[in-house]
Amino acid sequence: MGKVSYPSGYYVRFSPPSPVVLVTCISRDGRANIITIGMYMPISFDPPLLAIGVSPKRYSHSLIEETGEFVVNVPGRDLVDAAVLCGSVSGRVVDKFKEAKLTAIPASKVKPPLIAECIAHFECRVYDKFTAGDHTIFIGEVVAVSIEEKAVKENVLDVTKTQPISHRGRYYFTPSLFYEAKK
Ligand SMILES: Cc1cc2nc3c(=O)[nH]c(=O)nc-3n(C[C@H](O)[C@H](O)[C@H](O)COP(=O)(O)O)c2cc1C
Repeated sequence: MGKVSYPSGYYVRFSPPSPVVLVTCISRDGRANIITIGMYMPISFDPPLLAIGVSPKRYSHSLIEETGEFVVNVPGRDLVDAAVLCGSVSGRVVDKFKEAKLTAIPASKVKPPLIAECIAHFECRVYDKFTAGDHTIFIGEVVAVSIEEKAVKENVLDVTKTQPISHRGRYYFTPSLFYEAKK
């Protein structure tokens, strides 16, 4: 079988599609922001921890450092354009809730708001952080979880009813498909 070599930086483009989430954060004076994140990973069950990779260049990086809180919001397929918008302009200059026509609703345990149009919401407090090359890995302890009722089947996300999105590098997106493994 023929294999083709690429520069090592291309590994991201050839990785399995990774989930795209919309992370909300907030300034000390209460201005909320949204950043699109492809570097997202659930990492521990007990305590419940997840990881996001955020470049120190992002406005959101300074907000997360400032307050120690963020929310991971899971968008559906209908929010692809919003994800691209929130991933291409900075909250330093734009109110992304307004620009992307998204609705902020209060979280239960943290200050950054939830995005009402998203399927699920994981409220996080920063548990740890590490520098990894040109990104910071923020580990968030999940302190509250909420999800649209219709998106749950047997206590897991029902991707036949909702379609979370993944991306394949650059601006290519793919919906989550349903496949049940043999037991
Ligand atoms: C699909 C997609 C995935 C992205 N993933 C990340 C990521 O994981 N980490 C990151 O730092 N930036 C990522 N970005 C870029 C930021 O979302 C983008 O720079 C954003 O405008 C930063 O906003 P801010 O300055 O308001 O924080 C991604 C962008 C897109 C479109």
